[in-house]
Amino acid sequence: MRTLIKNGLVYRDGAFVQADVLLDNDRIAEVGQKLTAKADSVFDAIGKHVMPGFIDLHVHLRDPGQMHKEDIVSGTRAAAKGGFTTVQAMANTDPVVDNLATVEYINRKAKELGSCKVLVVGALTRNSEGKEIASIANMLKGGITAVSDDGSCVQEGRLKFNALKYAAGFNIPVIVHAEDYSLAGSGQVNGGKISTQLGLSGIPALAEEVMIARDIMFAEKIRCRLHIAHISTARSIEMVQWARQAGLDVTAEVTPHHLLLTEEACVGFDTNTKVKPPLRTEKDRRACFDALREGVIDFIATDHAPHADYEKDREFTLAPYGINGFETAFCSLYEGLVLAGELPLETLVQRMAEAPARFLSLDTGRIEPGLAADVIMVDLDGEVSITPDAMLSKSKNTPFLGRSFKGRVLKTWCDGRITWDADDAE
Ligand code: DOR
Repeated sequence: MRTLIKNGLVYRDGAFVQADVLLDNDRIAEVGQKLTAKADSVFDAIGKHVMPGFIDLHVHLRDPGQMHKEDIVSGTRAAAKGGFTTVQAMANTDPVVDNLATVEYINRKAKELGSCKVLVVGALTRNSEGKEIASIANMLKGGITAVSDDGSCVQEGRLKFNALKYAAGFNIPVIVHAEDYSLAGSGQVNGGKISTQLGLSGIPALAEEVMIARDIMFAEKIRCRLHIAHISTARSIEMVQWARQAGLDVTAEVTPHHLLLTEEACVGFDTNTKVKPPLRTEKDRRACFDALREGVIDFIATDHAPHADYEKDREFTLAPYGINGFETAFCSLYEGLVLAGELPLETLVQRMAEAPARFLSLDTGRIEPGLAADVIMVDLDGEVSITPDAMLSKSKNTPFLGRSFKGRVLKTWCDGRITWDADDAE
C-alpha cells in the first residue's frame, strides 16, 4: 500500500517546507519536490501542514479494569483523532501492570484493535504500593519502555533508592510522580490564595519539590535515568536545570493544562480542573512555558486521565483527580501558545513528536525516509469544537468543554494506515 501526500507544508529539520511525502507500507519512502511515484492513494495537502505523528509518553488507557472510563479501543481512537501515533500507557490499571501477563494483554489488544502504537510502562513497585520492588526483569520480556508508579509516589527513601538502582541495571527510565503525601494530605487544589478563597485544602508546591530534590540526589549517586512526570512548579524546574548542568540524565515533561491554565481555573469548582499535580500559579505556569521553550523541559505529555461523568459530576472534594487530554492537546496549545505569538509552531511540533521519540530512541517523530510512516495532515484554520458528542474518548472530563480551537487534524496515518479521517467523522 503506497500513499502519496502532495504539496503540503512538511515539517523537516525543524522547519516547514513545501514537499510531497510518499508512504510505502509502514515506512516513509521518499520526501521531495514533485514526486512522480505511483501510489494507491493520493492526497492533496495544498495549504495544509504535514507533520510527524505526535507521541504522548504519559497516558492512562484504564485497560484492564476501569473500562467504564476508557479502554484501549476508545483511548487510541481519541489519540489518533488528536494526531497521536504512539502513546505510552501508565501502569495504574486494575490489576496494576506489575507482571508480564498484563503487559502481554495490553500489547496484544493494542496490536489487534488499537488505532495507534501503545508502549507499556511497568510499575516500579508491586501493585504500585511502594513497599516492594516489582519484577522489572520479567516485564522487560514483554517490552516495557519505562517503569513508574505514576498516580502514586514511593514515600520510603531506602526503597526508592534501591528501586532506582535496580532499574539502572536495565538502563530503563524511571518516571517519577513527585508527591510527598504528608505534605499533600487530602489537598484538592494548589495550596495558596485560591485554596484559601475556596475553603479547600491545598497541595503545596513543596509536596512536589521535596520529592524531586530527593530523587535527583538519588540519581546523582546512582547515575540512573530519571524522568520527572507532569512538572508543575518553578522551583521544580530549577532543580531539573541544576541536575542537567551537573551532567545527570534527568529529563522532564509538562502537560498542556499546566502550560495553559492556572489555579484560577478552579474558582468555579469545575471538577474537570481537579488534577494532580494541581494547576498552579501564573508564575509557575510561566516557568513551565519558558522551560519548555528553552528545552529544559524536554517534551509535552498529556497525562490523559479519563474519568466517567458520574465520577466527576459530584462535590469537588469527592471527585477523582485527572484531565482528559488527547483531543484537546494540539489544538489548545496551537491556539493558546502558537497563535498567541508565544511559541513557534515548529517548536510545538518538536516537543510533541521529535523530542519524545528521541527520549525513547523510537524510529518515528520525524518525516524522514526509512522512519515509520507516522504522519498527520493538519488544517491550521480548521476549528475543533470540544463537545461531549464530538469527543471519541469514553470520558469527557476536560476543562476546555464548550471551547473551540483552531488546528484541526484532518488525517492520521500510523504505520502507513489511516487511523483518523476527519472526512469520515462528518
Ligand atoms: O490527576 C491525575 N490523575 N494525576 C495522576 O498522576 C494520575 C491520574 C489518574 O490516573 O487519574
